[in-house]
Amino acid sequence: MHHEHKQPFPENFLWGSASAAYQIEGGWDQDGKGPSVWDVYTKQPGTTYMDTNGDIAVDHYNRMEEDVALMAEMGLKTYRFSIAWTRIYPEGRGEVNEAGLAFYERLIDLLLDNHIEPIITVYHWDLPQALMDEYGGWESRKIIDDFNDYCVTLFQRFGEKVKYWVTLNEQNVFIGLGYKVGLHPPGVKDEKRMHQANHIASLANAKAVESFRKYVPNGKVGPSFALSPVYPRTSHPEDVLAAENAEEMMNHWYMDVYVHGKYPEVIWAHLERKGTAPELQEGDLELLKQGAPDFMGINYYQSTTVERNPLDGVAEGKMNTTGKKGTSSDSGVPGLFKTCRNPDLTTTNWDWEIDPVGLRIGMRRIHNRYQLPILISENGLGEFDKLENGRIHDDYRIDYIASHLQQIQEALQDGVDVIGYCTWSFTDLLSWLNGYQKRYGFVYIDRDEKDVRNLRRIKKDSFYWYQDIIQSSGEKL
Ligand code: BG6
Repeated sequence: MHHEHKQPFPENFLWGSASAAYQIEGGWDQDGKGPSVWDVYTKQPGTTYMDTNGDIAVDHYNRMEEDVALMAEMGLKTYRFSIAWTRIYPEGRGEVNEAGLAFYERLIDLLLDNHIEPIITVYHWDLPQALMDEYGGWESRKIIDDFNDYCVTLFQRFGEKVKYWVTLNEQNVFIGLGYKVGLHPPGVKDEKRMHQANHIASLANAKAVESFRKYVPNGKVGPSFALSPVYPRTSHPEDVLAAENAEEMMNHWYMDVYVHGKYPEVIWAHLERKGTAPELQEGDLELLKQGAPDFMGINYYQSTTVERNPLDGVAEGKMNTTGKKGTSSDSGVPGLFKTCRNPDLTTTNWDWEIDPVGLRIGMRRIHNRYQLPILISENGLGEFDKLENGRIHDDYRIDYIASHLQQIQEALQDGVDVIGYCTWSFTDLLSWLNGYQKRYGFVYIDRDEKDVRNLRRIKKDSFYWYQDIIQSSGEKL
């Protein structure tokens, strides 16, 4: 089904771009900022690509005015950024650090002056190290109140100026990589602990949403979920069943909790049999139900294709963090599913499958199951870029973004309510595990893993292209 007459994008569509504090700011101990788990984790040799860290990143903390000027020049309608908890509460709680609040206030005011709608992410993975040391971060219920207090501080300070808020960025990713795969802090591989930490994060999310209703009654709030719609590799019923298992475990396990405050039964039963189901306390389900969002934020990069996986089958896989094609391997959950290559898709140099139609499929599934507006809070292409005579010809990035926007347009025609689209990312930035060579921005940053150089900002071809798309409200797609 391809439509002849393209549906125009809504007039107030939020054409945007996104970032996260740790990946751009630098200034890791400036103006009273405390250390986050990422400040500490990246200093342990071997945890990241070429031992890169965000101490300087792309120095946005000291170049914020220049970066916003570029956003204004581009004509962005919205900019999604995250607030570093440790700038606001260096120790995670206690005394508030006014200098931290002042920095974000300057950023918000500057965005508003330039008619750019700010979208705040309150948590993009940089947990205060003090809370990790004191009680194990997301593994303790103590975090529910500390997270809530931090959020309320932001709601009170910025709630009048900022309408759109994202609570947790990719809970499924920071919990999965932190407690199962063991590649993000705290580097644990323990499924029981993972499910418990995940449950506590969901409770913290719900409590923050409950507070949001009180402090920002006219605002809109939602999570940013890392969505990867699942396909079966073949039509063999066992493969189709595997795809259902994966869809329930990877996607609905989180989104059902956000929207309906309950866990999908099939996966719950599976975890109970394994003895890894989260422990529920009285009042938990009631609290979860207070967390219903106004929109579903979706971060989309790729779909997932799976097949059946026997009980003694594949579990742990390998991630490609070097950009050497073909160095990743499949992973799975024995008895439920395992991932496999989709022969109909091409991949990036980091083995991510490029699948714009998957975005439309995922959006329709969400629309059908949850009946919520959707904000695409991240989508983009991480690739090597080449600076040649002062230019970056990133036509591959233009193709990627254009094809995904076309599928959003199709989804609009299908009846899906899409309120905005943020590319990942505005400037190049630090990729958590992949260093600086995996670039996502419209704006090139002149630095690499070894040499910080001058951090000069250089507009890529995609910058001018997206500027044109925004100006024409998508007509030029
Ligand atoms: C998302 C995150 O998972 O994907 C971003 O929200 C991240 O913070 C982005 O940078 C791209 O992932 P990666 O691993 O290529 O940096």
